[in-house]
Amino acid sequence: MLKVLNIVGARPNFMKIAPIVREMRRRESEFLPLIVHTGQHYDQAMSDSFFDDLGIPKPDFHLEIGSHSHAVQTARIMTAFEPIVLAEKPDWVLVVGDVNSTIACALVCAKLNVKIAHVEAGLRSRDRTMPEEINRILTDAISDLLLTTSEDADENLKNEGVPADKIKFVGNVMIDSLFYNLEKAKQLKVRENLGLDAKDYAVLTLHRPSNVDEKEVFGGLLDALRAISEKLPIIFPAHPRTKTNIERFGFTAQIENSNIRLIEPLGYLDFMNLYSGAKLVLTDSGGLQEETTALSIPCLTLRENTERPITISHGTNILVGTNPTKIKQTALEVLSRKNLADKKIPPLWDGHAAERICDSLSNANQAA
Ligand code: UD1
Repeated sequence: MLKVLNIVGARPNFMKIAPIVREMRRRESEFLPLIVHTGQHYDQAMSDSFFDDLGIPKPDFHLEIGSHSHAVQTARIMTAFEPIVLAEKPDWVLVVGDVNSTIACALVCAKLNVKIAHVEAGLRSRDRTMPEEINRILTDAISDLLLTTSEDADENLKNEGVPADKIKFVGNVMIDSLFYNLEKAKQLKVRENLGLDAKDYAVLTLHRPSNVDEKEVFGGLLDALRAISEKLPIIFPAHPRTKTNIERFGFTAQIENSNIRLIEPLGYLDFMNLYSGAKLVLTDSGGLQEETTALSIPCLTLRENTERPITISHGTNILVGTNPTKIKQTALEVLSRKNLADKKIPPLWDGHAAERICDSLSNANQAA
């Protein structure tokens, strides 16, 4: 029986851990899964609603760390997590994604010689100004089992000297959650309650510090988005960081006077109901690039780089950058296409990644 501590901290972690814990609980003679929530995200809309929507069991440990500078947040997670590892003596600690909770918990385990499995390993934007890129590189460097979503990630890891036997291409567990919940999400009335018709609106999310923390950059993006919204209404569920900056930079009035509709962050199922019916998605999120690819929805990524190139080579994603003119032109060009998206779903984005993750953990343990 493998005792596994599964770590979650921030919004993009919950939909990755849910199918894994469900599969571990199903294989109860093989796995004893425990859940540790670091509390990096803590608002109802950023955390608890995801536990409810995804049916994740209550965390066995809650570290209640909250928002701080990167150093303080990372350090506090480490300090709170170390005694749990010492007391629980897990066989594996499983971390997902690239948030501060991921590297903090992995680093604790590396020093205690506890084995680490990293889900979504090997993604690289090659932009070290992104905090997530630092978290990815460091987490991968100290993990014992590197579970990847696409074969380009395997190549990245091999090029960094990771032995091939530590790398397992298992597919995309976030897409497990998407397929598992899609029908349920489609029954909801979010779109209707907003007065929207299917395929007659766009969805926008923005939260990267590089896009929303500087007035000039954020203002330029808004200029482009306001122009696009003249063709198609844009629904904009705003992350707390983004909302604060809209107020701080005095952007509220220009948004109100446009066809961009600012709304509160949505829960997992509500948001799925919204984006799954959209004609176009504009985003700087990592996960949404993948979710739109899985559903063949055209996506413009408002960043200069992506750690998820498979969403471009196989999927519906276009890396459009942050130049307002280019964003506007590309959006209008995409909207004028007859066949908006006709793409394939990447290999092993099939709803069964959690099974392969559990198999890989079992096999790695037997081999050790
Ligand atoms: C974090 C992740 C990012 C991920 C994003 C998804 C890191 C380095 N970044 O960024 O990769 O894409 O989560 O949301 O781990 N806040 C609230 N309520 C909350 C959480 C945060 O109001 O529940 C506000 C606080 O003002 C906080 C700010 O949002 O200071 C930023 O939160 P933080 O967790 O530091 O980073 P994110 O920008 O959310």
